[in-house]
Amino acid sequence: MALAITLGRAECGIQAPLVTIETHLANGLPAFSIVGLAETAVKESRDRVRSAIINSGFDFPARRITVNLAPADLPKHGGRFDLPIALGILAASGQVPPDCLEQVELAGELSLGGQLRGVSGMLPAAVQARSAERALILAEANATEAALVFPDGCHAASHLLEVCAHFAGERPLPLVPHANRESPTVAVPDLADVRGQARARRGLEIAAAGRHNILLAGPPGTGKSMLATRITGILPPMAEAECLETAAVHSLSHGGFAPAKWGHRPFRAPHHSASHVALAGGGQRPRPGEISLAHNGVLFLDELPEFSRQSLEILREPLESGEVTISRAASQVVYPARFQLIAAMNPCPCGFLGDTVEACRCAPEQISRYRSRLSGPLLDRIDLHVEVTRLPAEDLQGARASEPSHRIAERVRAAYQRRMTESGKPSAELNAAELDAACALGPGEMQFARGALEQMRLSARGYHRLLRVARTIADLSEEGRVSTESLSEALSYRRLPMS
Ligand SMILES: Nc1ncnc2c1ncn2[C@@H]1O[C@H](COP(=O)(O)OP(=O)(O)O)[C@@H](O)[C@H]1O
Ligand SMILES: [Mg+2]
Repeated sequence: MALAITLGRAECGIQAPLVTIETHLANGLPAFSIVGLAETAVKESRDRVRSAIINSGFDFPARRITVNLAPADLPKHGGRFDLPIALGILAASGQVPPDCLEQVELAGELSLGGQLRGVSGMLPAAVQARSAERALILAEANATEAALVFPDGCHAASHLLEVCAHFAGERPLPLVPHANRESPTVAVPDLADVRGQARARRGLEIAAAGRHNILLAGPPGTGKSMLATRITGILPPMAEAECLETAAVHSLSHGGFAPAKWGHRPFRAPHHSASHVALAGGGQRPRPGEISLAHNGVLFLDELPEFSRQSLEILREPLESGEVTISRAASQVVYPARFQLIAAMNPCPCGFLGDTVEACRCAPEQISRYRSRLSGPLLDRIDLHVEVTRLPAEDLQGARASEPSHRIAERVRAAYQRRMTESGKPSAELNAAELDAACALGPGEMQFARGALEQMRLSARGYHRLLRVARTIADLSEEGRVSTESLSEALSYRRLPMS
C-alpha cells in the first residue's frame, strides 16, 4: 500500500483538534514534501524524520513522498508530528504493518538517532484521545502526565524502533500506569497564625464558600497579605472536570503540569510589574497567562493600585465571561480563566488613611489619583469589600489561638456543596434569575432588601452582589431561604467609601 494514515493532535488553546496525517508514496523523482499549512517547525521535522528513519536501520523510500496534515487551517507547530509522520512513511512503504494505526494517536518529536522526545502541552491531547476512545503512544517524558487521564494507563516509548516493534506485534510497549491521584497533602500556611482580624477571616470564609472575589483594604502591616495567602487552606474541593481543565491549562505553560498538583486549586500571585503577556497570556506561540493558570483557583493581586491600568483592564473580560481571548494576526486562541480574585490594597499611597495610630501624610489629590487607578467596573465585580484595621495589642499578644484552617474548610466545603447541589454553580456565578430562585426571599426579607436598595442607593449590580453574598452566608449557616440576618451581614461587605 502506498498510502498510509496516522493520527495526531494539534495544540489550540486547551482544545486539541484531531489531525489526520496522510502519507502517499508515488513514483517519480525522490522527493519529500509536507503540505497542509505546516509552520517552519513542521518543515524542520522533515529532516529529523528522514534521519531518524535511516538511523533506526529502516529504508527511507526513494520515491515521491507527500505528507498531508489535515485539516489545513489549524496551527500546527512543534515536533509533535514527527512520530506520526515517520510511522506513516514506514507503513506506506511496507516496513510496518498498516493495520491498527488508525486506532492509535501518536505524538512525539524524534531525534536524528530515532529517540523519542517529549513535547509540551500533551494533557489536552490525552484528554481528547481518551474521549475518542483511542490509545495514545507518546514519549516517556510525557507519559506520567498523560496517564492521569487514562484509567488503563498509556503507552510510552523511548525510541522509534520500540514503536515499530509494537505495531509489528513483536514487543508491545509498556503501559505507564494510571497515576495515583491521591494528591499528597502539601503543607500550606494556616489561618491559625493570624491573630484577631475576625472580620477579614469571616470575609475569606464567605469568599471561599461562594467563590466570590474579595478586596482587603487597610494600612500596611495589618496582615492583608498574610490572610490572602492563607485562603488556599480553606478552598472547597475540585470536581474531576475542574481538575482536568486546570491541569490541561498548566500543561500548555512553559513549566508544564506537575502531577503532584492534581486536585489542588491553583494560587497565583503575579507581581504588579508583571507584563501584559505574563498576565493575560500570548506570545509568538500563545501560552496561557497568570489569569488562566489561576483557572478554578485564586488570582491574588497584592497592592492592587500598583498594577497598571492596562493590566487591570485585562481582568474585566475574564471576570465577566470566565475566559480570555488572545488575538493574533492569523488566529484567535481562547483560554479558560475562571479565577477567584483576591485583591489587597492600602487605602492611600502612604497607607495610613483612617488609621487609629499613625496620621496620613497624603495630599487629597494624591489620594484621589491613587483611587482613580481602580475603575468602577472592576470594583463592581468584587463581591466582598473588607476593611482590615490595625490589630489591638491585646489581640496580637493574646493567648487565644485563632481557629485553624481545617475547621473553617469543613464549613466551606459543606456550604459550597450545598450550593452546587441546589444551583449547580457557586453563588458568585449565579445570574439574576438564578439568584431570585436560590434566595427565595420572604415578604419581610423583600422589604428589608428594598429598604437597603433605596437607602444605600444600590445599583442593580450592587443589589445582585448583595444577594449573592447573602446566599453564601445563608449556606454557611445552613439556611434554605436567605434571612434578614444574612442580608444584613452581606450589606456590611459592600463597597467601601475608601475605594
Ligand atoms: N493579625 C496578625 N496576626 C499575626 N501576625 C500578624 C498579623 N498581622 C500582621 N502580622 C505580622 O506582620 C507581618 C506583615 O503582615 P502583612 O500580611 O505583610 O501585612 P500587609 O499585607 O497588610 O501589609 C506578617 O508577616 C506577620 O508577621
Ligand atoms: Mg502586604
